[in-house]
Amino acid sequence: MNKPADLPRCHREDENSNTSSNPSFDSVLQARLSRRNILRGGLGTALTAAFGGLSLTACGGGDDDAPAPTETLLGFTAVAKSIADAFTVPTGYTASVLIALGDPLFDGVSDYKNDGTDTDYDKRCGEWHDGMEYFGLSAAGARDDAGSDRALLGINHEWVTQTFLHPNGPTPAPRPAAEVDIETACMGVSVVEIAKGAGGKMAYVKGSPFNRRITTLTEIEFAGPVRGYAKLKTKFSTDGTKTRGTVNNCGTGKTPWGTMLTGEENWAAFFARNAGDNLLRTANENVAFARYGKSVTTTTGSSQAYGWNTVASGEDKYVRWNTSVTGVSTDGTDDYRNEFNGQGWVTEIDPYSATSVVKKRTTMGRMAHEGAAFSKPVAGEPLAVYMGDDARGEYIYKFVSEAVWDPADANRADRMAVGDKYLDRGKLYAAKFNDDGSGEWVALSMANPAIAGYTTYVFADDADVLIHARIAADAAGATRMDRPEWSNTNPANGEVYITLTNNSNRRLAPTGSQLPLNAANPRAYSDVRSGTTVQSGNVNGHIVRMKDATPTATAFGWDIYLFGAESDASPTLVNLSGLTDDQDFSSPDGIVFTGSTGICWVQTDDGALVDESNCMMLASVPGAIGDGQTVTLDYGTAQVQTRMGRQATESTLKRFLVGPKDQEITGLAETPDGKVIFVNVQHPGEETSAADIADPSKYTSHWPGNAGYGAGGANARPRSATVMIVKDDGGRIGT
Ligand code: FEO
Ligand code: CA
Ligand code: CA
Repeated sequence: MNKPADLPRCHREDENSNTSSNPSFDSVLQARLSRRNILRGGLGTALTAAFGGLSLTACGGGDDDAPAPTETLLGFTAVAKSIADAFTVPTGYTASVLIALGDPLFDGVSDYKNDGTDTDYDKRCGEWHDGMEYFGLSAAGARDDAGSDRALLGINHEWVTQTFLHPNGPTPAPRPAAEVDIETACMGVSVVEIAKGAGGKMAYVKGSPFNRRITTLTEIEFAGPVRGYAKLKTKFSTDGTKTRGTVNNCGTGKTPWGTMLTGEENWAAFFARNAGDNLLRTANENVAFARYGKSVTTTTGSSQAYGWNTVASGEDKYVRWNTSVTGVSTDGTDDYRNEFNGQGWVTEIDPYSATSVVKKRTTMGRMAHEGAAFSKPVAGEPLAVYMGDDARGEYIYKFVSEAVWDPADANRADRMAVGDKYLDRGKLYAAKFNDDGSGEWVALSMANPAIAGYTTYVFADDADVLIHARIAADAAGATRMDRPEWSNTNPANGEVYITLTNNSNRRLAPTGSQLPLNAANPRAYSDVRSGTTVQSGNVNGHIVRMKDATPTATAFGWDIYLFGAESDASPTLVNLSGLTDDQDFSSPDGIVFTGSTGICWVQTDDGALVDESNCMMLASVPGAIGDGQTVTLDYGTAQVQTRMGRQATESTLKRFLVGPKDQEITGLAETPDGKVIFVNVQHPGEETSAADIADPSKYTSHWPGNAGYGAGGANARPRSATVMIVKDDGGRIGT
């Protein structure tokens, strides 16, 4: 019983589609370089030319008087596409595993045995490493945002690969409690200390007092307007102020006050709903369930992703995964009919305190959350946070804080209170893209007549709008996008980049629930994988970038930074960015700017180019909105005009790494000195059939055991892991 094929999942092809019936970075770079006191290399006129190919002079091991190697952004040799079961970085770089699934976080917990017999996963590193953030520490263990020798990593754990977590794979429903207890503990978030040890190499610190596991069962408080709302009341929290767990944690964000935001993505899959539960609900409730992918009929129920609700004991911690009316109360305080509303939020964690209260920030709306990217904080102005909702045809959102930024808040010790200040009151918007390169943020509140007067779903109040943000965005007429994934802000100019990973539902001539082309989602075509499988729609995805003049702006500008494509695809309809063999990629997912170099890293979670290459990460040198041109895609029967950034060149885009088999590359953090980056390898070998668990020769991956990490060697069970990458000459990563 591996993960059923029809499960909604973030990667490759998302099934959790929108079921609505509605249809002058130069000066900034100069400033950054000056701040780092590294401006010695005669940048001058080069700054006015393309950013790509810049020669920079690096910090020499922190000693500004020491000789330093000359750096050229993207100065490495591109890594070739590969389907080898290996993690490959450019010549001159070294990659090694930092921490993997099952590694013990606490004293007294045994080493991971890699045979399915390990337990105590609430004391081990979790599974399916995903989004990740870096939190610096001083040598003495205090928060130090500049700390490159000691730090905390916050790591999301999105799903599990059941096959390898148990000695003989998973037992079908009714699931044994012991197996479910492993799986529920493998998900959530890990906070783990890392520090330089012997030889100056980073290692994770077993037994650190900072280490923490937040799982699908950790008690979490609701914060913001929905706290205590009637639709959050459950048997566990009869006043609707708390729930258990954060589920399906994918993208992340880092707040300006030093906390981690984790996005709850395909949480809907984690709830069962009984056949006939629709008869016990109002019409409004059934509309809401359908819009969030959990409709049932009188004869067909909906199952929990891993059957966690089927444990025979009927204990509360298992039953809670069934979000049906099973009690007799009128308000849901004797069952888990409202448990479904407890997930789908942006959740804030203070990594510097292992005992701090974790809070769901309900102002940011309920959806399949990915990244949460802050605008550059400006004293006296509100903060804006940009977020994607990953399912076909979903929206891009912006939250604007009511409180204006006080730089003194950046270093307060009571970080969760700072979160209360900025994240519990504000306004939520969804993006509407116009064909002319402009856009508008449409307000999601009862003050918007289109929402207050919506008849498909009748909103009760603003808290109801936040719980059903997708429906509010439908009503407000936002633009349905090609699966908005992660978001990140270009530190050089404040432009926000959002990956649109792919969309099998986009068509030139749509029928049924398919979506028409528009300027912001301008491609639909077919591609053949492995000579036989035909994929259609926006097969390879693209990256949009947006710019608000101020955080509160309700108008924005946009263009498309890059189009994913195969290098030999049509240059006029598919490979519009002119990608070469050293650059072609498909299904952009993770996107992270590193502060030290300004490089924009693009990570893939792909099911289209996988016949040619495992998932990968590319380094790109961003320009700015408007640095390209307006292009017209001529489909013969119709033309679609869009705004595209400049085409890629070898000095602006280059493949940096390729991961092992059956995985995606996701999550990126760097040390502030830029000399180490950390990336995650998620679900290597996940296509292995559970029926083949006794025959290691049939595992599709043995990484990282086959690279010498942990037990098992060439026959190892594959493990999700965090990899650290250093440059052999001690330089910064990506140069
Ligand atoms: Fe979990 Fe949409 O990536
Ligand atoms: Ca192909
Ligand atoms: Ca992802």
